[in-house]
Amino acid sequence: MDTAWKAGLEDVLAARSSITSVDGRAGRLFYRGYEIGELAGVVPFEEVTALLWFGELPAPAEAALFRARLEAARGLPAPVLAVLEGLPRDAHPLDALRTAVSLAATLDPDGCLGDRDANVRKALRLMTLVPETVAAWQRIRTGRAPVAAPRAASHAAYFLELLDGRAPSPEVARVLDVVLTLHADHEFNASTFAARVAVATLADLHAAVVAAVATLKGPRHGGANEDVLAMLHAIGDPAEAEAFVGERLGARAALSRQERGDPKARVPGFGHRVYRVDDARARVLRAMAETMAEATGRRRLFEVAERVYDAMRARTSLPVNVDFFSAVVYDALGIPPDFCTSIFAAGRIAGWCAHALEQYADNRLIRPRADYVGPAPRPVPPRSRRKTDTSIASSSNSYSRDS
Ligand SMILES: CC(C)(COP(=O)(O)OP(=O)(O)OC[C@H]1O[C@@H](n2cnc3c(N)ncnc32)[C@H](O)[C@@H]1OP(=O)(O)O)[C@@H](O)C(=O)NCCC(=O)NCCS
Repeated sequence: MDTAWKAGLEDVLAARSSITSVDGRAGRLFYRGYEIGELAGVVPFEEVTALLWFGELPAPAEAALFRARLEAARGLPAPVLAVLEGLPRDAHPLDALRTAVSLAATLDPDGCLGDRDANVRKALRLMTLVPETVAAWQRIRTGRAPVAAPRAASHAAYFLELLDGRAPSPEVARVLDVVLTLHADHEFNASTFAARVAVATLADLHAAVVAAVATLKGPRHGGANEDVLAMLHAIGDPAEAEAFVGERLGARAALSRQERGDPKARVPGFGHRVYRVDDARARVLRAMAETMAEATGRRRLFEVAERVYDAMRARTSLPVNVDFFSAVVYDALGIPPDFCTSIFAAGRIAGWCAHALEQYADNRLIRPRADYVGPAPRPVPPRSRRKTDTSIASSSNSYSRDS
């Protein structure tokens, strides 16, 4: 057995994949060999999804068929809508999404079927379920009734119409289309890997997507998106950005390693496990953020972002990541901070499904080993000789909030 281990599986090759490749040194990203910058805004998100799932860009007839299949999956199942209506209004959007996907598993017409065709059908339903749930929850929690939009012209336009209750302009739909494509896949990122681990047990596709949504939520992954927008709003004034970054980074010097790991001691939107330089997605998003901020009169937030970016460049070698400028784009689209990760999920569902299909097609259980560093084998002591364990705290764990 190989006894070497890498914290966080850094640079460990966990499986073979022919979907996405990342060149961390050059900041380049390819879907099935096509550079992301050549796909985004040129090939519609629906066709990018087909590329990820089936390996090639669809010919026009197949592209039309794929769109038709996606459209046929439209419409949130009534029981999902009923559960959303019953959630506490302050439930986090990603918790609402995770709950909806879990419930949809029990409603899926293909049930436990796990052959490739059934999984593609499930994947098509999940592609629409995610934006539908995200949009419905945003409307419900803000006191508006969810709407249907069965005839929306594209996947991005569909999502926007479900959110706003009216058809978006082609320009705005195009912006979301690009955002969805940029987020569609990213090799073995944490949520995708979680999905693949679930698939490798031969759990069903919905179970894998539940695992993925749950994993996306954390501030080290998709959750950083929300923290970026909250941070930019908190800074508020471009003139304050430099001082904010200086203070946050400066404060780190006095912290322990564990304290430095706290998301609040980091600048969200910077750093990456694989990239050593700013990646192509961030470059596209930065340009888009500027244009959008200009067009929607939100230039000030973009300026704050620019000043934070400059301050980080001056003080660290951490690359900016996809979550930083996308947050500015979301703000220009009128999306509140705690909703950003849900938009990410609406794009990444394409990649989760692609990886699930690939894992099902050539599967082996993913079951690594631990480098055990606990106590050596020892006898069980009698109760009278056990030490007091202060980590078993006495605070209440009932559901009541006032206990
Ligand atoms: C993305 C991320 C989780 C990668 O983590 P990783 O590869 O495990 O890197 P580490 O957490 O080991 O960080 C390496 C060092 O850089 C520092 N660092 C990494 N990202 C940082 C950030 N955004 N701000 C300040 N310091 C950061 C770490 O604190 C650590 O330094 P230390 O050892 O002195 O504490 C990490 O960069 C991060 O937390 N970024 C902020 C959250 C974010 O934007 N996530 C979205 C990712 S797409």
